[in-house]
Amino acid sequence: MKEKILDDIKNRRTKVAVIGLGYVGLPLAVEFARSGFPVIGIEIDERKAVAINEGKSYVEDITDEELLEVVKKGLLRATTDYSEVRNADAIIITVPTPLSKTRDPDLSYIMSAIESIKPHLKKGHIIVLESTTYPGTTDEVVKPELEETGFKVGKDIFLAFSPERINPGDKKWKFKNTPKVLGGVDPLSTEIAAALYNEVLEHLHVVSSARVAETAKLLENTFRAINIALVNELAIMCNLLGIDVWEVIDAAATKPFGFMKFTPGPGIGGHCIPIDPLYLSWKLKTLNYNARMIEVASEINTNMPRYVVTRIQDILNDMEKSIKGSRILVVGVAYKRDVSDTRESPALDVMALLEEKGAVVEYHDPLVPSVSIGERFYSSVNLNPESIAKYDLVVITTDHSSIDWDMLREYAKVIFDTKNVYKNPSRNVIKL
Ligand SMILES: NC(=O)c1ccc[n+]([C@@H]2O[C@H](COP(=O)([O-])OP(=O)(O)OC[C@H]3O[C@@H](n4cnc5c(N)ncnc54)[C@H](O)[C@@H]3O)[C@@H](O)[C@H]2O)c1
Repeated sequence: MKEKILDDIKNRRTKVAVIGLGYVGLPLAVEFARSGFPVIGIEIDERKAVAINEGKSYVEDITDEELLEVVKKGLLRATTDYSEVRNADAIIITVPTPLSKTRDPDLSYIMSAIESIKPHLKKGHIIVLESTTYPGTTDEVVKPELEETGFKVGKDIFLAFSPERINPGDKKWKFKNTPKVLGGVDPLSTEIAAALYNEVLEHLHVVSSARVAETAKLLENTFRAINIALVNELAIMCNLLGIDVWEVIDAAATKPFGFMKFTPGPGIGGHCIPIDPLYLSWKLKTLNYNARMIEVASEINTNMPRYVVTRIQDILNDMEKSIKGSRILVVGVAYKRDVSDTRESPALDVMALLEEKGAVVEYHDPLVPSVSIGERFYSSVNLNPESIAKYDLVVITTDHSSIDWDMLREYAKVIFDTKNVYKNPSRNVIKL
């Protein structure tokens, strides 16, 4: 069976099913299709499946032209019908892994995908989980579920974990040229899954187990979360010391070795950095170990929106105003520059906290036309000299490159800049 599977991969006879076509799944499906593999996307949201078949991309990293090219060639098609799994040879799972209300790992999307795959499993299927998760998920949770069908992993079907490293909005590092890690639950699964990915990627780094691959992903994102927490706390300390934190960081970053530049901000957002480290600390809690660095970093980062609101209160106080009744414009609600994703965005927390304290809050984001926070619905306001001048305070929370920053500085009364947009000192700009 192994020779046939490897030969099918080499000769592009392997049909790939990608489950969950979001920020990760769609670029991955397009790349497999571009490399000549017939791809079927399975997506529970019917509107997304229809959009893909019409060549309309809803993910910034994929243009309509790129999508249309593979759809027209018949290499990519999307459906909501799981029975199509039976016609596929490889199944790649890229569904969400959020946190539950109690901030514990929520594997319900993975479990639901596995449940839907099970009735259609066949001998020789290659299954790769890409959703970020805690160490042991592939071995301890996914494998036994799949084996309930009677198929043995490593003998009848093959199972591996390969974490996604997609960086939405990144023009240089795409799915194909970003090195990727992969580890199977047994040597044969590793070999077969690696053969498939090696056909599509420029560099695959194979590790000895799915657990190592799961943990490597969590290290990458925990590293970011902790370093961001460090500079966020530095921003708080520098404010107390009366020192410009941005100048300090730029100075430290001139060191050509042993230092990596991270910058502070209003908190952390997106589907990865605020969430993934908690998958690791949760797993460690089950072993009676408290992952202290993760807990402290999470606490600092989660509290940044509150800190930002405290600073806003101080700025308004100096203007002899209170938050209550002040007109405040929040600029940028996406969680980072040049993407439209607002998941876990700290800007939304800042807005909610300001509303709670009685401010009249509006926002501008060229990439996010509207947003809901709880029951409240907001539409992005236009920026022009008159509209800008009417706010008591403008708070910059995301530094999209398409915003007219010069106009903002010229007409805003006071700007609280949490992203260091204005590198040079200015009469009306106060920095984080
Ligand atoms: N977004 C990122 O930058 C990024 C980067 C690296 C890793 N990841 C990880 O990749 C995974 C996916 O993240 P994402 O950002 O692509 O999420 P997403 O919400 O953009 O996409 C997930 C897609 O899965 C679909 N879906 C949910 N349940 C399904 C099911 N049972 N069957 C079929 N489709 C289903 C959803 O409708 C959605 O379209 C997560 O584990 C995330 O942590 C994300």
